[in-house]
Amino acid sequence: MKILFYDTKQYDSVSFNEALSHYNGIEIKYLEADLNPATAPLAAGYDGVCAFVNSDVGKETVEKLGEVGVKLILLRCAGFNNVDLEAAAEHKIRVLRVPGYSPEAVAEHAMALALGVNRRLHKAYVKVRENDFSLSGLMGFNFHQKTAGIVGTGKIGAAMARICHGFGMKVIAYDVYENPDLKDLVTYVSLDQLLAESDLISLHCPLIDSTYHMINKEAIAKMKDGVILVNTSRGALVKTEDLIEGIRARKFFGVGLDVYEEEATNVFENRSNEILEHSVTARLLSFPNVMITSHQGFFTAEALAAIARTTLDNAILFEKGERSPNEVKR
Ligand code: NAI
Repeated sequence: MKILFYDTKQYDSVSFNEALSHYNGIEIKYLEADLNPATAPLAAGYDGVCAFVNSDVGKETVEKLGEVGVKLILLRCAGFNNVDLEAAAEHKIRVLRVPGYSPEAVAEHAMALALGVNRRLHKAYVKVRENDFSLSGLMGFNFHQKTAGIVGTGKIGAAMARICHGFGMKVIAYDVYENPDLKDLVTYVSLDQLLAESDLISLHCPLIDSTYHMINKEAIAKMKDGVILVNTSRGALVKTEDLIEGIRARKFFGVGLDVYEEEATNVFENRSNEILEHSVTARLLSFPNVMITSHQGFFTAEALAAIARTTLDNAILFEKGERSPNEVKR
């Protein structure tokens, strides 16, 4: 079977070529261009396309893929909020994803952001490079014996809960379903109670209608003063304008973001010579207590290898016409 692989970075082709040596009959053509309505017709003659987290797999793209006979969208990521599943169903295109590849990769990055912003590592690194060995502005607080609030306790949230527990934190959580694996280390509470009691809030739920802008002005008002907020899930869980207002009102000790609204045009691109069209990133970065990374939570060697293997397993399942729990449907 032939797969057209969009938005290829060097590390993608390395991990997929490595995995391909264990699979027969799959041919991949790597494209640098990302998937969108303009590039979808390039998939003519291919059985499937492979897309990533910020590819535009909306209605128009899916229709164009359907027109050129594509029957499979392989998402090499967990999230699928960028895919129009209705349109995919209409065009009889199956959509398969990689639901979990290394939850620890993302959870460890969430803790890295929490620690980094707490101890102002982004500031300290620059200061020492400039021979400024003073400690002013660098004081943090111990996580030990503080309260971590985990919003969403699926695979990544559970891994984060275990990490926080390992730091000697009291771990409380909010989810629409309770994870039985966590019963010995997590106390489930309402979202309001979590917001009110947590010293560190880490978001690990998917972006769906009910979670869109769940961290807004009202939610921020319910938080403890001096809280640290970390988002490694999806940017639109947080209403950025309200977050900026909250930061200005000195609500947060720190904010660590691996994802943010309007990240789509930035993610994985070197735009250092450009004048950026949006002001959100610049405004967020103007605050000394905000640390931003560019959607790198997943980016470990273990996770990339697992993503490649599961994506190719998904392709084989599709070829055999088998059902899979990795399939996403409307
Ligand atoms: P998962 O499906 O295992 O867990 C998600 C949890 O969120 C589930 O327990 C679910 O019940 C819960 N949830 C659903 N609606 C909720 C609501 N309204 N309030 C609270 N909880 C709710 O997903 P997983 O693998 O843990 O991933 C979580 C998210 O992390 C993904 O949706 C994705 O957006 C993000 N992610 C980010 C990456 C990065 O590189 N920064 C990489 C991979 C995933």
